Amino acid sequence: MNFIRLFLGLAFIIITIIMFWYFQNKFLQTKEKNDKSLNLKFKQSWINISNKELQNFGKTIFLSKCSKCHGKNGKGNNGKAQNLTKRISKSSVLETIKHGANNFKTDYPSGMPANIINEKKAQSVSQFIANGMIGENKIYNKSCLPCHGKNGKGMNYVAPNIKFYDNRVLASVLKNGKKSNIGTMPNFTNILNDTQIKMLGIYLKSLKNNVE
Ligand code: HEC
Ligand code: HEC
Repeated sequence: MNFIRLFLGLAFIIITIIMFWYFQNKFLQTKEKNDKSLNLKFKQSWINISNKELQNFGKTIFLSKCSKCHGKNGKGNNGKAQNLTKRISKSSVLETIKHGANNFKTDYPSGMPANIINEKKAQSVSQFIANGMIGENKIYNKSCLPCHGKNGKGMNYVAPNIKFYDNRVLASVLKNGKKSNIGTMPNFTNILNDTQIKMLGIYLKSLKNNVE
């Protein structure tokens, strides 16, 4: 008698465990399926969105998160923050050459060395860069191009684009923040996601003098 009771008891426990396992698996599978179709729907709704709409989203983010320092028009509030309608000013290039820089540690870990050219050459190449890098500059080709590349477009992990605010520079600034002679740019890690950064990038491109 005791033997039968023990057997039934064990069988009951084993069946309960198997049922529990089976239903849990079933539940996880359905959840995964639902997640996948939701993700797909999310992606499709973004694919259909036009560039103009992305730019408008970017503008909204800019007005709420960036304009208090950079100004409503992105021009930098009379020197309080970087003028974003232009890639970089002569004095900022001079400052970078003089002191070097290592703000964007996540994307360009080795940074830029200080004082690689003399003051006279620094004046000439800074003018060239601030004016949008039109034509050729011998000093640039010799001392800067090995890292910043042809036309200033930059190289992954080596040096940033210094001709335009491409998405990589923008993402890097937002991830690392930046300190310079102008002031301090806070970082936006955990505040903006990749999609919002792309939208901001499209909006920044729409500002004058910053179009590729
Ligand atoms: C608290 C003020 C402040 C806020 C808010 C702010 N910035 Fe800045 N930002 C600065 C300052 C100051 C600089 C100048 C630092 C530098 O580039 O030398 C700067 C520089 C930049 C640069 C130029 C970096 C470079 O290397 O040339 C970009 C791009 C930029 N900000 C984008 C943004 C965006 C986009 C937002 C909003 C999500 C934003 N900033 C919000 C103060 C701010
Ligand atoms: C060894 C590689 C290397 C060389 C050579 C080099 N750079 Fe850089 N440069 C960098 C890196 C890396 C950065 C990013 C620095 C940072 O993380 O803040 C940078 C940043 C800059 C910036 C600032 C961009 C910004 O948005 O803050 C300017 C301007 C610049 N370089 C100009 C020059 C000029 C002009 C020369 C030539 C005289 C030059 N660089 C030579 C690696 C280099």
